[in-house]
Amino acid sequence: KTVRYRTYEEDEPGTVIGTLAEDLHLEGEGSFRLMKQFNNSLIHVRESDGQLSIGERIDRERICRQSPHCTLALDVVSVAKEQFKLIHVEVEVRDINDNSPRFPGAEIPVEVSESAPVGTRIPLDIATDEDVGVNSIQSFQISENSHFSIDVQTRADGVKYADLVLMKELDRESQSAYTLELLAMDGGSPSRSGTTMVNVRVLDFNDNSPVFERSSVMVELMEDAPVGHLLLDLDALDPDEGANGEIVYGFSPQVPQEVRQLFKIDAKSGRLTLEGQVDFETKQTYEFDAQAQDMALNPLTATCKVIVRVIDVNDNAPVIGITPLTSISAGVAYITEAAARESFVALISTTDRDSGQNGQVHCTLYGHEHFRLQQAYEDSYMIVTTSALDREKIAEYNLTVVAEDLGSPPFKTVKQYTIRVSDENDNAPVFAKPVYEVSVLENNAPGAYITTVVARDPDFGHNGKVIYRLVETEVMGAPITTYVSLDPATGAVYALRTFNHEILQQLDLRIQASDGGSPQLTSSAIIKVKIVDQNDNAPVIVQPALSNGSAEVVVPSRAPHGFLVTHIKAKDADEGVNAELTYSIADEGRNVFTINKATGEVFLVADVSEAIGQVFRATVSVSDSGRPPLSSTATITFLVTHHHHHH
Ligand SMILES: *[C@@H]1O[C@H](CO)[C@@H](O)[C@H](O)[C@H]1NC(C)=O
Ligand SMILES: *[C@@H]1O[C@H](CO)[C@@H](O)[C@H](O)[C@H]1NC(C)=O
Ligand SMILES: *[C@@H]1O[C@H](CO)[C@@H](O)[C@H](O)[C@H]1NC(C)=O
Repeated sequence: KTVRYRTYEEDEPGTVIGTLAEDLHLEGEGSFRLMKQFNNSLIHVRESDGQLSIGERIDRERICRQSPHCTLALDVVSVAKEQFKLIHVEVEVRDINDNSPRFPGAEIPVEVSESAPVGTRIPLDIATDEDVGVNSIQSFQISENSHFSIDVQTRADGVKYADLVLMKELDRESQSAYTLELLAMDGGSPSRSGTTMVNVRVLDFNDNSPVFERSSVMVELMEDAPVGHLLLDLDALDPDEGANGEIVYGFSPQVPQEVRQLFKIDAKSGRLTLEGQVDFETKQTYEFDAQAQDMALNPLTATCKVIVRVIDVNDNAPVIGITPLTSISAGVAYITEAAARESFVALISTTDRDSGQNGQVHCTLYGHEHFRLQQAYEDSYMIVTTSALDREKIAEYNLTVVAEDLGSPPFKTVKQYTIRVSDENDNAPVFAKPVYEVSVLENNAPGAYITTVVARDPDFGHNGKVIYRLVETEVMGAPITTYVSLDPATGAVYALRTFNHEILQQLDLRIQASDGGSPQLTSSAIIKVKIVDQNDNAPVIVQPALSNGSAEVVVPSRAPHGFLVTHIKAKDADEGVNAELTYSIADEGRNVFTINKATGEVFLVADVSEAIGQVFRATVSVSDSGRPPLSSTATITFLVTHHHHHH
């Protein structure tokens, strides 16, 4: 999109040129930024609404010299909703009449032979005015006099100059000198002017002046012509005899130094040759007067206008300029991975100093299908994205820009360019699994390490830095933080107390992982900590009821063989094998009673009918299957009685 504005040179700093938000109907849509390739001291861009205003006072003559049109071109990027748009702005700087016409010197000496015919033209020094258009020189005036007038001519480049024209035959004997005031005026309003004095000296009669075959010649010159190249052979004739007829060639006195350095006229032969290197891209035409002068005492001269047209040759390779939207180091552009499709990344401007086909440039982008080239205007292109980007997949692209002109043979320029994708916090930390199961042996030491959980976040820097937190809950009336601690940096979990499997078999922890982005992204996982049993409890005999470690059991004397005398029952607070109990019987009672190892049932295996009143003592042991096993014992006293029941 191209927006055009106008301003006048020398406007006050701060003068508003225009407001992009209003003029492009982009109100309230993000911000505006000036691309860096433009020297922002001349024009300022307000970020909020793209208001353009004068920075430093602009001097049109300094930035554009004599070009009739003076335009400052700048590129502004509007950023709205992650979409970057390029706005090309052209500000035409209009001329004001701030310069006066000026002659190179305060006086112009002129010599004319008294024999010169009426109508003879004498070239005068050329006045300059740095302004352009109507503000440049438009007219000349010469002071009242009897013999001379001026004739205003226009050069190929538009510059107006005045020739002095003889209007009446001269007679040196009656007046040998004339002093005339020459005034140059521009067309500004008000008009400005400059003056010089023309001092005419009338020379004595000298038969014939030299004559050029033609009053003007045009010659073409290839810009790559070598030094010494012959442009043309100046040829003047003088019909006089001797010194009066001998001709010396040279430049007219008012020919500027620039031309004298570039071209050479051989005084004797009149050969015009090239002395330096011309450059079509700097100057396309040279227009100057050559003169032929005879060797008489009062020499006469003839002038011939020479116009040299420089022809372009494809001698310049295209130049590629790349201006990124954001850059930290040269040759690298940055774009956020949140950028939308078709987002602007960098501006490429190609220039070729040649003209015509030689200066027409074709530009191509190679490297990756995520980027393409889009013409912005004239010889400028934008690198834009063709799809959404993901830094976690591709963080850097190496692209190649190729610019080739249409000359023959063509010139080609290749430039490498790197685009880095800057990170957005678009990934939450991720745990390897939603639920972790770990075990810890009971009776652990407080501070014992339990496990470490890790959540990965592929984002960069803060966006990828993960910290861990324990989600608050209560376990058996106490905060979870009194049971375990979590290292926020590493995700390591430690016990804060000694666990007891007999009280708590499993502890469920919820861990939250958060990254350092803004906004912050989080996820969580559960750790199931199983508290593993240890054989830390001995069996306890609960039946028969023991008193001081012993109990008394009555055995009826007529009880048969295999009679169930009593059932020893024990409990073990542990679990599994640690609670698998084995019963055994020892001592005196061993021959009379037997015990079921697994159940603890005690049976009679002897005849006790003859043993009324007798007492058998036995030690009953209960042992668990832990490693090492724990056991407890009880002393059972068996009393043989008459009766079934004894109290
Ligand atoms: C920009 O312009 C200012 C004044 O015209 C000049 O002093 C400065 O050096 C320029 N900066 C660049 C980077 O061209
Ligand atoms: C891009 O080029 C640079 C310099 O040659 C190289 O170090 C880098 O690895 C390249 N990157 C990719 C993504 O090819
Ligand atoms: C418990 O038994 C021990 C010896 O086995 C004995 O010394 C103690 O007096 C007994 N206590 C009671 C209260 O019967």
